[in-house]
Amino acid sequence: MRVLGIETSCDETAVAVVEDGRSILSNLISSQAHLYGAFLEDPALELPLVVMLVSGGHTMLVAMEGHGRYRLLGQTIDDAAGEAFDKVARFLGLDYPGGPAIDALAVEGDPKAADFPRSMLAEGYDFSFSGLKTAVITHVRKHPDQAVADVAASFQEAVVDVLVAKARRAARDVGARGLCLAGGVAANSRLRERALDACIEDGLQAFVPNPAMCTDNAAMVAAAGWWRLRADGPSSLGTGADPNLRLPLLG
Ligand code: KG4
Repeated sequence: MRVLGIETSCDETAVAVVEDGRSILSNLISSQAHLYGAFLEDPALELPLVVMLVSGGHTMLVAMEGHGRYRLLGQTIDDAAGEAFDKVARFLGLDYPGGPAIDALAVEGDPKAADFPRSMLAEGYDFSFSGLKTAVITHVRKHPDQAVADVAASFQEAVVDVLVAKARRAARDVGARGLCLAGGVAANSRLRERALDACIEDGLQAFVPNPAMCTDNAAMVAAAGWWRLRADGPSSLGTGADPNLRLPLLG
């Protein structure tokens, strides 16, 4: 008997067909997930686009020049943005996942209460968030009486400042028609608000998917599959598994 297995627990999505519980006939892993959430909600999106993928495992700026034609502009050199939200929230004693908890608490806080670093703000398209996390920990140890909402709002503002500044610079530099947010952190209310304002100011089409489409979901995988099928046809059952599959980036 052949059994189709589908694995969807993290950033990766995997399918396999196993015969009689022992023999692997097919085993595929896709890490392409997030970019295609955008096309499900707004099929009229015009290319080229700059996509900012911000999740628990990735922080990437990608120029999307066509379907299947991506150029990686920059990525985090240490923690992903979502990882920074989760680690800071844990230090502040908030629930996991930390992003939504910080987002909710920050509404009551003052984003200017603490002056946290905006790492690599003016340098290229790469990101660094581990210094910011350390700065929050050091600050809270020095100011144990400061309201947690103020710390949360100030931390969130530092992350959003860097994300928005780099995304809009990337969009300008590659001549993008629009900016698209993807990944779990794209559900962040302050990031959504600031990204939309930046797009209006810069005359860019904005695509900020609804929060349910930001986090891991199978619809975007099926949408990516449709575009891939259209471009390359079906894969054979003998296709090998590649656990390190990456976006097919242009040279
Ligand atoms: O894309 P995603 O659902 O999955 C993985 O990366 O596996 O992203 C999850 C990340 C977590 O780090 C979570 O804290 C963050 O997205 N996140 C948020 C918000 N909602 C989810 N971060 C900031 N603000 C939010 N509202």
